[in-house]
Amino acid sequence: MDYYVVNGGKRLNGTIRISGAKNAAVGILPAAILFSGKCYIDNLPDIEDVRRVIEIMKEMGASIEYITSNSILIDTTNVKDMDIVSPSVRKMRASYYFAGAMLGKYSHACVMLPGGCEIGERPIDQHIYGFEALGAKVKIEGNILKVEAEKLTGANIRLKCPSVGATINIMLAAVCAEGQTIIRNAAREPHVVDVANFLNAMGARVKGAGTDTIRITVPLSKHSSEKVCRYSLIPDQIEAGTFMIAAAAAGGEVIIRNIIPTHLKVIADAIMNTGAYVEFLDDGNEFFAKITASMYPASTMITTEPYPGFPTDLQQPMMAYLTLAKGKSMIIENIYENRFNHVPQLEKMGAKIKINDRIALVEGTDKLKGADLEASDLRAGAALIIAALMADGESRISNIHYIDRGYEKIDEKLRSLGADIKRVEIKD
Ligand code: EPU
Repeated sequence: MDYYVVNGGKRLNGTIRISGAKNAAVGILPAAILFSGKCYIDNLPDIEDVRRVIEIMKEMGASIEYITSNSILIDTTNVKDMDIVSPSVRKMRASYYFAGAMLGKYSHACVMLPGGCEIGERPIDQHIYGFEALGAKVKIEGNILKVEAEKLTGANIRLKCPSVGATINIMLAAVCAEGQTIIRNAAREPHVVDVANFLNAMGARVKGAGTDTIRITVPLSKHSSEKVCRYSLIPDQIEAGTFMIAAAAAGGEVIIRNIIPTHLKVIADAIMNTGAYVEFLDDGNEFFAKITASMYPASTMITTEPYPGFPTDLQQPMMAYLTLAKGKSMIIENIYENRFNHVPQLEKMGAKIKINDRIALVEGTDKLKGADLEASDLRAGAALIIAALMADGESRISNIHYIDRGYEKIDEKLRSLGADIKRVEIKD
């Protein structure tokens, strides 16, 4: 298994570009099977999770042609109605979006559920509640989710919590239902909006995405269309946030291009609270962020919340940064009950962290030392890279297949900023 070797202490300076949003891509690709026809998707991140979704789509009969490594042409004309149970399905969480898409397209779906997760229970009761409200019968047999409807009918759905996955999955099925669907307490994350915009680009009528009430009217025509759609994904909010935090932790001055400033405001505020400086600028062509690190970062308090709050996906990278901030920082993890698996790894480096249920108290220390580290999940991996960039000496980070799931060429991007990070490839 490949690993990273990081020699810490090099200041990051320069410019990088953010890739397309992972969590939009993994919803938009399954959404494409709702239509019979062709569509181009641009700004697609070249990451493992996207490759897995594409593998599943090819197994279903979709033709997928890479125009560049970030741009594909999908032709769904020959997609078949089949069970989604191949090994690729189990390797990624977002394969559950095939349930909503198949339910919409064929009125039934049989999808293998992802395995237990490293960051918490991650129930899908709200997805099931939404499918049932639309008229489907839902069964879970072993690890297979079976959903079947005689007819999908629009419904009033109030989610118990603003789940990103449930909101997207319900939208995918509801665009094919007769009558209006209203999703209340919907997730407002940027990738929910991107999926809704994609559905609209393909002819659906989804209104209100980005607010807590989404209305879906007029069932989508599933008939083959001559129309070729072109859609460009939004930039990845979490990748941008990760690089902003890395820049505050190990900059220098770093420019981050291909961003949407609104998506990053709460992250910029959190970073500015530590004394680093974040500016959003516009060169007339696109927005970019300029992050100037503080030599003496101060402690702060972070509470993870659904969008527009501070994202749980950046809690781990932020904690890595705060291990060297002066004073005591408090981090409250409200979304997942088990997203502190990176803590023992940071402690190996000399970090001082106390966990009490969902609260982490981080006491800033003077330095971290390089160590042998293991990523326990995707964002834990990003956190360990940030810690290793700040540490004295060499760190070796294993289990980087987690990082490959969601960050496109993170090592190359960091090297271009002056980091000393090397991927060591091990042939199996
Ligand atoms: N929840 C329920 N019931 C449900 C669904 C969710 O109780 O049916 C709870 C969860 O247990 C959790 C909270 O609601 O406490 C939020 O879960 P959500 O459904 O919003 O998360 P998700 O859709 O499974 C997506 C991202 C995650 C990100 C979360 C929160 C994708 C593929 N994944 O997960 O991304 O952490 O939203 O923003 O979009 C990552 O990229 O590293 C990642 C884990």
